[in-house]
Amino acid sequence: MTIAHSIEPSAGQFILSDQDFEAVAKFAHKNFGLALSSSKKPLVSSRLSRRLNRLNVRDFKSYLSNLDTPGGEGERSELLSLLTTNVTQFFREPHHFETLREDVLPPLIEKARSGGRVRLWSAGCSNGQEPYTMAMVLNQLCPDAARLDIKILGTDIDPVVVRTAQAAQYPADELAQIPAKYRAKGAGDQLPDEILSLVSFGVLNLIEPFPFKGKFDAIFCRNVAIYFDTPTQQHVWSAFQKSLNPGGYLFIGHSERMSGPAATHLQTSGITTYINSSAGLST
Ligand SMILES: C[S@@+](CC[C@H](N)C(=O)[O-])C[C@H]1O[C@@H](n2cnc3c(N)ncnc32)[C@H](O)[C@@H]1O
Repeated sequence: MTIAHSIEPSAGQFILSDQDFEAVAKFAHKNFGLALSSSKKPLVSSRLSRRLNRLNVRDFKSYLSNLDTPGGEGERSELLSLLTTNVTQFFREPHHFETLREDVLPPLIEKARSGGRVRLWSAGCSNGQEPYTMAMVLNQLCPDAARLDIKILGTDIDPVVVRTAQAAQYPADELAQIPAKYRAKGAGDQLPDEILSLVSFGVLNLIEPFPFKGKFDAIFCRNVAIYFDTPTQQHVWSAFQKSLNPGGYLFIGHSERMSGPAATHLQTSGITTYINSSAGLST
C-alpha cells in the first residue's frame, strides 16, 4: 500500500508518510540536534501516532506547524521526550565516578579549600541521578563542600526531567543503588540537604551557545551526543572543550566517540575520559 496522505487513520492509528518523517527529522535536527535516520521511522511513527491520537489531532501538518509557534513550547518538549530516552541511574558507568573520586576531585577540593572556585557540570542530566551521584562522591570526600565555592550544575533540554531532578524524590529500587546514608527514610522524601545543597538545575539546549561566563573543571555529558549526527557531536565536543579549564575533564558515554577539532585538545585519559590539555580554543 502506498501512503499518499500525511497521516491516514489505520485501525485507530496514524501512519507517517516518508514526507512527514522527513519533516519531523528536519524539525528535530534544527531544534534539538537529533539525527533521525530512516531506520527510526517505525519507532517515530508509532510514538507520534499515539501522541496525535491522544491529542485528537488528525492532521500531521497542523501538529507540526503548531510546534513552530511560541505556544508550541510544551509540545516541543513532548516531541523531544518521545524521540529520545531519559534512561539514567545513580552511579551509571561507575568507572567515571572512580576517576572523579581518585583523580579529579582531590586537587579541586584543595583548590576550593584555598579559596578557589570549582564548577562541575552534568550536561543532559535527565532526572538528576548523574549530578546527584557526583554530589555524593564529593560529599564523601569533602563533607564541608557546601561551605566552599564548589558547585554542581545539572542541565537538560527537557523541562519535565529538570523538574523531576529538582524534586529529588526517587523510588526505593533506585535509591537502593546509593550509599545507605543518603537514602530517604520514607516514601516521598527528598535526598538529604547535604546533597541537594551542592546541585542546581536549569533547562539548556546543548546545540545552542552556552550562557556561562566562567569555565568548568569537569563536564559529564554521557549518553546524550549519541542522538546527534557527527557534525553536531563535533560542534558540542568543541563547545565543551572551550568551556573547560586547562586540565579539566570531559566524560562521555560508553558508546560515544570523540572526534573533530576538539580531539586535538582533549587527551584520552581512561575509558571515554578526556583531559583538556589546552588553555586555547578548539576551532
Ligand atoms: C539517556 S539520557 C542520559 C542521562 C545521563 N547523562 C546518563 O548518562 O545517565 C539523555 C538525555 O539527553 C537529553 N538531551 C537530548 N538532546 C539534548 C539537547 N540537544 N540538549 C540537552 N539535552 C539533550 C534528553 O532530554 C535526556 O534527558
